[in-house]
Amino acid sequence: MRHDHLITAKQLSREDIETVLDHAAEIADDPAAYGDRHAGTLLGLLFFEPSTRTKMSFETAMKRLGGDVVDMGSVESSSVKKGESLADTARVIEGYADALVLRHPSQGAAKMVSEFVDVPLLNAGDGAGHHPTQTLLDLYTMRETAGLDGLTVGIMGDLKYGRTVHSLSYALTNFDVQQHFISPKSLQLPRNVRYDLHETGAMVKEHTDLEGILPSLDVLYVTRIQRERFPDENEYRKVAGQYSIGLEALEPAKDDLVVMHPLPRVDEIDPEIDDTHYANYFEQAHNGVPVRMALLDLMLGGEL
Ligand code: CP
Repeated sequence: MRHDHLITAKQLSREDIETVLDHAAEIADDPAAYGDRHAGTLLGLLFFEPSTRTKMSFETAMKRLGGDVVDMGSVESSSVKKGESLADTARVIEGYADALVLRHPSQGAAKMVSEFVDVPLLNAGDGAGHHPTQTLLDLYTMRETAGLDGLTVGIMGDLKYGRTVHSLSYALTNFDVQQHFISPKSLQLPRNVRYDLHETGAMVKEHTDLEGILPSLDVLYVTRIQRERFPDENEYRKVAGQYSIGLEALEPAKDDLVVMHPLPRVDEIDPEIDDTHYANYFEQAHNGVPVRMALLDLMLGGEL
C-alpha cells in the first residue's frame, strides 16, 4: 500500500512492516552501499518537544543516505514564539525540504499537519498519541533477538500516556503475538486503544503486577512514567517509582528474556541489568538508524 504520510502504526499492514524491516536489515548489512542514495535530499526537522534518539537518528539516517537536514531548532528560537501556527510553520518548511519529521506535544498534531502538506510527513510522536517510527525499530529489534510470530510480550509502565505503547500494541496485532499489559490501574491503556485491540481479535490481557506473568514472557518492554503528561503532579507522585525492575526481579524470567525500553529511562530499569544478556535497549536505540534509513528510502522512493 502507498502511504503519503506515516501518522500512526494503525495504517501499517504486516506487509508494510516486513518491507521496512527487511530493507533495514539489508541496509544494516552494508550501509555504505546506500551512502549516496538520496544525495541532495533535505529532511525538515520540526521538533516542538525534546528528543535525543528520534531527532538524532533521523538526522543520522538522512545523512547516511547522502542527504541533509534543515532543522527548525528550538521552539524558543523560532517564529512559533511570535505566534505562528503549526500549520503555517509546516507549510513554510515543506517549501525548503523534501520530507518532514514532526514531534509535537498535542495528540493529533501530525494528522492535522498532514492535511496541509504535500511532502511525506513522518510522525515522530504526537503527545500521548502515536510514535510509529519508534514502533518500527522496536519490531526490528524484537525480530532480530526473539523473532516475532509466536512471542509472548509484556508491555509495562505508563500505558495511558505512553505513545510508544499505543503504536507498538497496534503493530503487534499483525503478528501471532500474545500481549500482556502491566500497569497500575490509573495508567491502563486508554479505552479507545483497548477497544481497537479487541476489534482486531488480538490476544490481549491486562495485569497490575509483573510477578505472575513474568515467567511466560519472551519480551518485556518497559516504559517510563510520562511525568510531563500528568495534569496533576500529585497523581504522578502516586505512581512514580512503581514498576521498576532490578536483576532480582528477573529471577523467575526465562533465561532468554529480551528486555526492551524505548528510552529515555528514569528509574524503571536498574543499571545493574545493563551489562546482562537481558538488556537490549541500547541496541534498540541504535537500530533507529537503519530502520529510519529504510523508511526514508522507501517513502522518498514512493515504495511504501
Ligand atoms: N524513544 C524516543 O522517542 O526517544 P527521544 O524522546 O529521545 O526521541
